[in-house]
Amino acid sequence: KTVSIVGCPFRGGQARAGVDEGPIYLVKAGLVEQIEELGWKVKFDGHHLFEDIEQELAPTRNEDVLGKVKNPKLVSRVCEAVAKTVGDHARKGELPLTLGGDHSLAMGTVSGVFSAYPDACLIWCDAHADINTVESTGSGNLHGMPVSFLLGIGQKLPMFEWLKPVLKPEKIVYIGLRDVDKAEKKILKDNGIKAFSMHEVDKYGIGKVVEMALDHVNPKRTLPIHLSFDVDALDPSVAPSTGTPVRGGLSFREGHYICEAICETGLLVGLDIMEVNPALPNMDDKMSVRQTVAIGCSLTRASLGETLL
Ligand code: ARG
Ligand code: MN
Ligand code: MN
Ligand code: MN
Repeated sequence: KTVSIVGCPFRGGQARAGVDEGPIYLVKAGLVEQIEELGWKVKFDGHHLFEDIEQELAPTRNEDVLGKVKNPKLVSRVCEAVAKTVGDHARKGELPLTLGGDHSLAMGTVSGVFSAYPDACLIWCDAHADINTVESTGSGNLHGMPVSFLLGIGQKLPMFEWLKPVLKPEKIVYIGLRDVDKAEKKILKDNGIKAFSMHEVDKYGIGKVVEMALDHVNPKRTLPIHLSFDVDALDPSVAPSTGTPVRGGLSFREGHYICEAICETGLLVGLDIMEVNPALPNMDDKMSVRQTVAIGCSLTRASLGETLL
């Protein structure tokens, strides 16, 4: 029983500074010790600074734009490195825990986990669908696009040649959505992708929603599960320090319940905690930062076996 922490202080998939500090704050808050306390062996050999990549791309950094897409070379190279690291850990039978960093990193984490577990399914907790394509993106930010890249839909970018479409539309399920772009709604519908928005959470309750989500991607509860958790799935009153907060989100308990229920399946093989940004909502708001970092830690613990009794 080993967790391998892959700390990714990376923000190239979006514009706001500070999200690259997320993993540093999570580890400083005692995350390693907290996971050990749950009975896991924890491997953590420092954060992945991607210095070689940053250095190699530095001379052409401001030319790194392709059509609307921002930083495609940088994001691609970083995600390729993450995919290798996460994949290596998963193949050794360790549970890779990736700390973001922005959600574009999931192109790496999901690629890595699915290279080790090709029959895995993906549970994506988020306010956003992150399924814009190169054509549909309004922002050009790659943290709004990882799912389309993993599915292999939309225009292929040459620098992302390494990224194989490892994900089938029926192998992903969303929980928590409430800010889905018009074009994304069409993509979800056209591809028959299952999503439980906050409307369904209100209607059925979180217990039923998680059960239905698992029934969809994992009917017999036999397949490995990767959980990619964007902290903005939680309501901003609960997790304020994140780059794209949207009101009307998951409560503290609903967020933790999702993690606990997935843990109970015994099938978790990969976990991402993404989009913690300690520079938000502003530099002086230490309470918000502490609260959000604490929740990043407690969601992780809930996913790794912490129980209330
Ligand atoms: N849909 C918007 C976009 O494409 C917002 C995405 C927010 N993604 C995130 N990982 N926080 O830019
Ligand atoms: Mn490492
Ligand atoms: Mn989000
Ligand atoms: Mn996201």
